[in-house]
Amino acid sequence: MSWWPFRRTGLPAGPPNLTEIRHSFERDAHDEEHFPSTIDPRIYHVKLILEHLGPLHSALDVGSGKGRFARVLKEHHPAANIVCFDLALEMLRRVDPNLATCAGSMTALPFASHSFDGVYATESLEHAVDIETAVAEMCRVLKPGGRLVIIDKNAEHWGKLKTPAWERWFHRAELENLLRRHCQTVESRPISYWEDVPPDGLFLAWLATK
Ligand SMILES: C[S@@+](CC[C@H](N)C(=O)[O-])C[C@H]1O[C@@H](n2cnc3c(N)ncnc32)[C@H](O)[C@@H]1O
Repeated sequence: MSWWPFRRTGLPAGPPNLTEIRHSFERDAHDEEHFPSTIDPRIYHVKLILEHLGPLHSALDVGSGKGRFARVLKEHHPAANIVCFDLALEMLRRVDPNLATCAGSMTALPFASHSFDGVYATESLEHAVDIETAVAEMCRVLKPGGRLVIIDKNAEHWGKLKTPAWERWFHRAELENLLRRHCQTVESRPISYWEDVPPDGLFLAWLATK
């Protein structure tokens, strides 16, 4: 289904262009305030990923940016092979050197099927444009029994923040249904940054096991 003709902004209606999206994030990489390279490990988004992925030997951070989540994961699993994957080379240049990096689009992951114990994507699927293919790819590279976490924004709160022309937010059922095509168990729930603060509904987490 096409969604882009209905988007706002001064850009002409038309299919979003991957090169345009990549250039935008190459520029954003210089903005450490809004695209930070570290994260407070007490933030619930981090804790939830650690908890759901559990023990692992390998993990893929899809749309990793500067790998702020992967840094924490590596501290918890020092022997694990953790790969930061992103469209923007300038983001990957800022990833911790103890982590592996790989550039490309999440709609065509350059990894063999069944490669990773854990896969996660935080605030990146919303930029993938071809959401169905990106979800299928994340699930393809996951081992049977492997665990997946997607954290993204709730379509019910669309308009609350300024967004680029290609960005999409999701309804819980929308991603649940896509994930159920590939995974044995799928659930979703609203989450907040801090465990003891009730969620305001802006962020949703989808948790799946293949
Ligand atoms: C808002 S940032 C989030 C970065 C990181 N996950 C975090 O939470 O710090 C979105 C990231 O997704 C990446 N991205 C956008 N489209 C992508 C695609 N098709 N494939 C891979 N990465 C993509 C961008 O380059 C950017 O680094």
